[in-house]
Amino acid sequence: MAVDDKPRALTILDLLEMKQRGQKITCLTAYDASFGRLLDQAGIDAVLVGDSLGMVVKGEESTLSVSMDEMVYHTRCVAKATQRAWLIADLPFLSYSSSDQAALNAGRLMREGNSRMVKLEGGRRCAGIVKHLTEQGIPVCAHLGLTPQSIHQLGGFRVQGKDRDSADRMLEDARILEAAGAGLLVLECIPRELASEISRNLKIPTIGIGAGNSCDGQVLVLQDLLGIGLHPTPKFAKNFLCGESGIDAAVKSYIKAVQAGEFPGLEHGFE
Ligand code: KIV
Repeated sequence: MAVDDKPRALTILDLLEMKQRGQKITCLTAYDASFGRLLDQAGIDAVLVGDSLGMVVKGEESTLSVSMDEMVYHTRCVAKATQRAWLIADLPFLSYSSSDQAALNAGRLMREGNSRMVKLEGGRRCAGIVKHLTEQGIPVCAHLGLTPQSIHQLGGFRVQGKDRDSADRMLEDARILEAAGAGLLVLECIPRELASEISRNLKIPTIGIGAGNSCDGQVLVLQDLLGIGLHPTPKFAKNFLCGESGIDAAVKSYIKAVQAGEFPGLEHGFE
């Protein structure tokens, strides 16, 4: 605790040191101030204002309709209530098609939304944009595997990187994004062996969702953890509210399970 009793805000260096020490990083999504504060006070390490808000807040079938204004609004709400957690905000669909557009929109998430890092989806095609943003002091989290903004190109919410060629390409993409300056990497819905290989080959922390428990950290959509999602709960998620006395206890139980390497279990992953 700092002298004024405010918890010290975690930095990207803290997350890097956690990977080096083998300490798991815990992350959850939030979209408003109440949940932002609850997660922060429960001791979560990172909060992601994900464009999953398109599905869990707006009730859409995908994340594609989420606008920059909506991302800025929800990021600002969460930022108001988070003190310790590292705050990441998603750049929504088609908001980073060029380096200039990405810098403008990442700037909005940082200046108007008060996020500390922006997240974008995609492999080597995003390397130039990651480089451009990080050169200007904007921390970037990359996102590989099942990238929901490309859902129609991928043919649905399906596990990625299952054959050797696509696995090799993803590993190479991860290396390219790290070299371009990415500070974190989300790995979504990929075989646990591939996630483990990518995590071992990178210096930056990997945060998994449906990617096995060898990643350096884990993230879940908050509504999935509480069992209140509008869509069927994905195989990789677990209802932590079941058997707990309330939301705060459920979040603490998730944090404990991730830190102990108990979540995700084998049943939450993919071969
Ligand atoms: O939008 C989101 O919530 C995400 C997580 C599922 C990683 O990208």
